[in-house]
Amino acid sequence: MNDNGKTKKTVIGIETSCDETSVAVMRGDELLSNVISSQIEIHRRFGGVVPEIASRNHLTAILPVITEALEKAGVGLGDIDAVAVTYGAGLVGALLVGVSAAKSLSYALGVPLYAVNHIQAHIAANYIASPELKPPYLAIVASGGHTGVVRVDGYNSFTALGTTSDDAIGEAFDKVARALNLPYPGGPEIDKRAKLGKADIEFISHKKHGPLSYSGLKTAVVNYLHTMEQRGEKVDINDVCASFQKTAVDMLADVAIDAVKSTGADTIVLAGGVAANSYLRAKLKAEGEKRNLKTYFPPMSLCTDNAAMVARRALDMIKEGLPPATLNLNAVSYLPISECYKPQ
Ligand code: KG4
Ligand code: ZN
Repeated sequence: MNDNGKTKKTVIGIETSCDETSVAVMRGDELLSNVISSQIEIHRRFGGVVPEIASRNHLTAILPVITEALEKAGVGLGDIDAVAVTYGAGLVGALLVGVSAAKSLSYALGVPLYAVNHIQAHIAANYIASPELKPPYLAIVASGGHTGVVRVDGYNSFTALGTTSDDAIGEAFDKVARALNLPYPGGPEIDKRAKLGKADIEFISHKKHGPLSYSGLKTAVVNYLHTMEQRGEKVDINDVCASFQKTAVDMLADVAIDAVKSTGADTIVLAGGVAANSYLRAKLKAEGEKRNLKTYFPPMSLCTDNAAMVARRALDMIKEGLPPATLNLNAVSYLPISECYKPQ
């Protein structure tokens, strides 16, 4: 590492797991830049992310985004002490663009490469705005690819306590939005419309201790839409959004509260793209106040995919003495939340 006796490491983070090309620079706890080039407009016409198109766009975006992140941070390549990259979970072709760029930088600069688990990075996003936050705590992960409660006992100790039996919560927001002919990504659109509607449609009976099934909830919404169409009855889209959002969030909140009770945790931390949802934030804040729990939420800008969280996660890996990646690092489409990179 370009140590030179420096206590604050300068880390460049790279994130390309889905449809955001992002590069960030952190020096110690300070975020110097976080550039996000989103492909949302490109994928919107297809109603969701097309993996091959995502990979191609990462390829054209990655070098300009690296340059912009360094310029905004006022940092030269020679100042970099370590490179961090998301190596999973995500779309393999998309991940490979970031992994290849990160390997090249690490090799050319002669600095270590850190391979970051995407969900662990989402959780670490909370440390950027709340440096006082420390494990142990319960993380409520709500993203487009993963949903569940994770016990975080240390910076490298992640235990999944409960997870969905099928779709992730963000996936359900996107699929329900598609059934309602709302644009991709569905989460922000449903959040906006839910504020104008009444949450009075019961899609599924509220099974307090049932498994988390977002595919089941999505199917219930689709069945409701078909039944209304067959009966020739008008559907109030805002009411559907409000009712779906309330059910989806309440299901997750129930699982989180059960986990608080069984573990005796006193702190809950929200993570992932759906952490931007206004009802989820309000619900967990209210539950926290009722039960005397400390609650942490990532800032809105760090909820969905970004490289700041990747750089932040790598700083913890460095502090904890986790091994850097070797140059045979590969992208991984499925990666359990508990897994930290091990050199092959
Ligand atoms: O964490 P993320 O950026 O990507 C994955 O790692 O999967 O999450 C993206 C998901 C999408 O499904 C998107 O619809 C959802 O986060 N999302 C929201 C909101 N903003 C983004 N869902 C509900 N309400 C929101 N305000
Ligand atoms: Zn993500």
